[in-house]
Amino acid sequence: MASNVPVKDFSNLTELNEEQKRQLSELERAQGVASDAGYRIVAPQPSAKLLSGYTIPLVGLGTWKSAKGEVGAAVATALRAGYRHIDCARIYQNEHEVGEALAAVLAEGVVKREEVFITSKLWNSDHDPARVEAACRKSMEDLRVDYLDLYLMHWPVTGNPGPTVQPPLADTWAAMEQLVDKGLVRTIGVSNFSAKKLEALMAGARIQPAVNQVEAHPYWRNEELRAWCAARGIHLTAYSPLGSPDSAAVIGRSADVPSPLKDETVAAVAAELGKSPAQVLIRWAVQRGTSVLPKSVNPQRIAANLDVVGGWELAPEQVAALDALPLQRRMVDGSFWVDARGPYRSTAELWDE
Ligand code: A2P
Repeated sequence: MASNVPVKDFSNLTELNEEQKRQLSELERAQGVASDAGYRIVAPQPSAKLLSGYTIPLVGLGTWKSAKGEVGAAVATALRAGYRHIDCARIYQNEHEVGEALAAVLAEGVVKREEVFITSKLWNSDHDPARVEAACRKSMEDLRVDYLDLYLMHWPVTGNPGPTVQPPLADTWAAMEQLVDKGLVRTIGVSNFSAKKLEALMAGARIQPAVNQVEAHPYWRNEELRAWCAARGIHLTAYSPLGSPDSAAVIGRSADVPSPLKDETVAAVAAELGKSPAQVLIRWAVQRGTSVLPKSVNPQRIAANLDVVGGWELAPEQVAALDALPLQRRMVDGSFWVDARGPYRSTAELWDE
């Protein structure tokens, strides 16, 4: 992994026209972002080449659970701090505000649209092939973009009870392929798919899924799935890389579940390196070649979470220590999709375990 990453400071940049300045200060007033916010250009960023031929920056900002009124400022802060990858989804119900912030930052003229990797996701209730394009266009409209870099099928779930998934995932996928044909989306992929479900999808696919976005951190390394995907050129994106401490209440997980952010080994590695536990967790994900989506709405943490892309790395024995942590359990276990009527009567059926 390259370690010396040049960092340029663009904090004195003032090349906005009057209309852009007006729009920006309006947005910033509304969202409480400092109008003299500086820019930090981090280049080159570690990235991965996707099966589609496009490139994905490895560190992206997560926006699940980022509240309205906060998410726009978080996105603006992240882009100015050097992030070039924002992970979104229709179901997060905040894409409109993400889009406002993205437009405002692009209008400042430092970051160009083609430099930012924007992901959105098709929600379960839009799997009907007749609904796919409209759902995608709604996300694009809210995000104020004329193409998405990546569009993912959010879950292998449609919400229709019964013995089989209806509509079949293959039909939804075929509709997603058409989004690529129409130039709305550059790359398509899936999220929360097991190897078995991916394999079935790939068997009938005209355009192969390039990405599988799943939970991954040292308490749920998902190594078998990572290796399976890697062997087929499918890129793995790690969600909840800090162990998703803020999702316990949202999805009904016990607050007693141990957090990798508080793990002793992670703390020891962080102390050895003079870094924070979060930085160690994010760096671990980067070094195993996955992209990684730390979520934060806090400006200091947003900046710190990107300070994993140059100048330092985990030593092999530190990686080995994290790879040996015995506790392995999902934070987002998918139990909310279990239905006695099917198609998933247990989490084992959902994850094919
Ligand atoms: P906040 O948004 O207030 O920063 P995950 O990425 O695994 O989903 O975890 C997100 C959670 O971790 C959020 O509660 C977020 O809070 C918190 N978080 C984000 N960055 C850090 C950090 N550097 N140190 C500690 N907690 C963090």
